[in-house]
Amino acid sequence: MIKTLNAVPTKHEKLVQWVQEWAELCKPEGIYWCDGSKAEYDRLCDEMVESGLAIRLNPEKKPNSLLFRSDPSDVARVEGRTYIASATKEAAGPTNNWIDPVELKQTMRGLYDGCMQGRIMYVIPFSMGPVGSDIAKIGVELTDSPYVVINMEVMTRVSPKVLEVLGTDGEFIPCIHSVGKQLAPGESDNGIWPCAPMEKKYIAQFPETREIWSFGSGYGGNALLGKKCLALRIATVQARDEGWLAEHMLILKLTSPEGKVKYVCGAFPSACGKTNLAMLIPTIKDWKVETIGDDIAWMKFGKDGRLYAINPEAGFFGVAPGTSMQSNKNAMISASKDTIFTNVALTEDGDVWWEGIGYDAPGKLIDWKGNEWDAATATEKAAHPNARFTACASNCPAIAPEWQDPAGVPIDAILFGGRRPSTIPLVNQSLNWEHGVFMGSIVGSEVTAAVISDQIGQVRRDPFAMLPFCGYNMGDYFQHWLEIGKHEGAKLPKIFFVNWFRKTADGRWLWPGFGDNSRVLKWIFERCDGEGQAEETQIGFLPTVDAIDRTGLEDSVTADDMKELLSIDIEGWKKELAGIRSEHYPKFGDHLPKELLAQLDALEARLG
Ligand code: OXD
Ligand code: MN
Repeated sequence: MIKTLNAVPTKHEKLVQWVQEWAELCKPEGIYWCDGSKAEYDRLCDEMVESGLAIRLNPEKKPNSLLFRSDPSDVARVEGRTYIASATKEAAGPTNNWIDPVELKQTMRGLYDGCMQGRIMYVIPFSMGPVGSDIAKIGVELTDSPYVVINMEVMTRVSPKVLEVLGTDGEFIPCIHSVGKQLAPGESDNGIWPCAPMEKKYIAQFPETREIWSFGSGYGGNALLGKKCLALRIATVQARDEGWLAEHMLILKLTSPEGKVKYVCGAFPSACGKTNLAMLIPTIKDWKVETIGDDIAWMKFGKDGRLYAINPEAGFFGVAPGTSMQSNKNAMISASKDTIFTNVALTEDGDVWWEGIGYDAPGKLIDWKGNEWDAATATEKAAHPNARFTACASNCPAIAPEWQDPAGVPIDAILFGGRRPSTIPLVNQSLNWEHGVFMGSIVGSEVTAAVISDQIGQVRRDPFAMLPFCGYNMGDYFQHWLEIGKHEGAKLPKIFFVNWFRKTADGRWLWPGFGDNSRVLKWIFERCDGEGQAEETQIGFLPTVDAIDRTGLEDSVTADDMKELLSIDIEGWKKELAGIRSEHYPKFGDHLPKELLAQLDALEARLG
């Protein structure tokens, strides 16, 4: 028996037994049950500061905040080591890495054997979504990383109430995590971020048994298992089976000057400004945007036939570089206290700094690798491009009062988008649901640093922004979206495709983005009310050149720019569709819904 360091707070026998079994395999020094209290959070923070793993920031600059520096090899999600271990390869589909679950479990059991020696195994009971909401799900994560515990306590709901809801036999999603670095007797990390080499890292989802096993990485979506692993990869499988949607989407609330409200979801590939859009400050008078969520939406049909969304998370795991008072004031305020920073630079006065923070580095810095850094002589960036802040949603000045409503909010519009320098117009409304699903299935974006990849800068197809997050065959996932459209009595959201990243042929941004995206949101709002000037074109409903409010922006976005932003690049589209026909769609083989092929044929025919 591995000893439990505090009282076991549950009579859920299956849970207690599961924890013991894993402890016996991983062989930690002891087991600790987390209660999510402030005292526990503060104690773990103090312990990590004392052991040299964390730096406490100057409380006058960033109250109650820590800085961590990860191992330079452990800086992002590792898609190449992320697996959907379903019973068959076909069930995982062509876009996922697949390994036979029996074989993978055998390999991973070998790695887990003794992996927590010298460490504590923390048990984190957490709820994704408001505790007790019937859209919410409960998970329990076992981890040997106190960094993971404090991040989970910000990003999810960890409290004794979760165990109360679980009762003596409630269902939970088992999540196992180890940094994969055992300690010999007397050995310590000496302040160095523990992790395993790349070839031993595994981020594994077992869709049939709804289990998550993660080994070797302590970073972000590899280790905070409630986020991408549970709320997307496992939840997509549950959503398919139960008739709802688990999506990589922000949720925002848009209020017009007349006080009318619409709720909008948006799917954008990683690092396309989802957090910025979710927290946008409108540049048009008397419009208001409030945040419900910045990364994940779970949507279920209500009795009225509308889709109701909750944000399953409780915090933001935002990309720091590029975030400034100008690009996202609300994120900056959210991260101004009670925040965990990872891989940003440290200033001489105990504050943080990163590229794109909006002002020059205030003197010498310590960079994300722990080395001295001077702007005058630096050859490398001070912060890692995927450096993050973990901040509580409740610290966000723009958080909507109803963000924790267990019933969710009714969705009026769904946006798809990506970073596309050419071809894709500023905004385009789908002709109908099926056409919208087609648009979602062809989302593409330039690859950025949110993921370790050799494709940075190239456009990769990222259907529904779900490429790394769908827990089953993506062709079947398209089918599921089509089925949602056939739900009896459904009052479906309208679907739009947006692109804030369009450039001229000589490389000038055509659209200012950020707060000015509110102008596009206003048109979307109007379209949801059956208003807003639009023209039905080959590719969808495009705003007429004057339909988007440019008040105050006339000089920086001219009427000609607007024409270019809303033009149909026939040749570009033909090239795009040829690529979809020859490379993208064939990947899905028999699993590609025939409706999508029909949409492709019809669009090609319309383009002439
Ligand atoms: C994220 C991602 O961290 O999408 O949210 O990579
Ligand atoms: Mn994301």
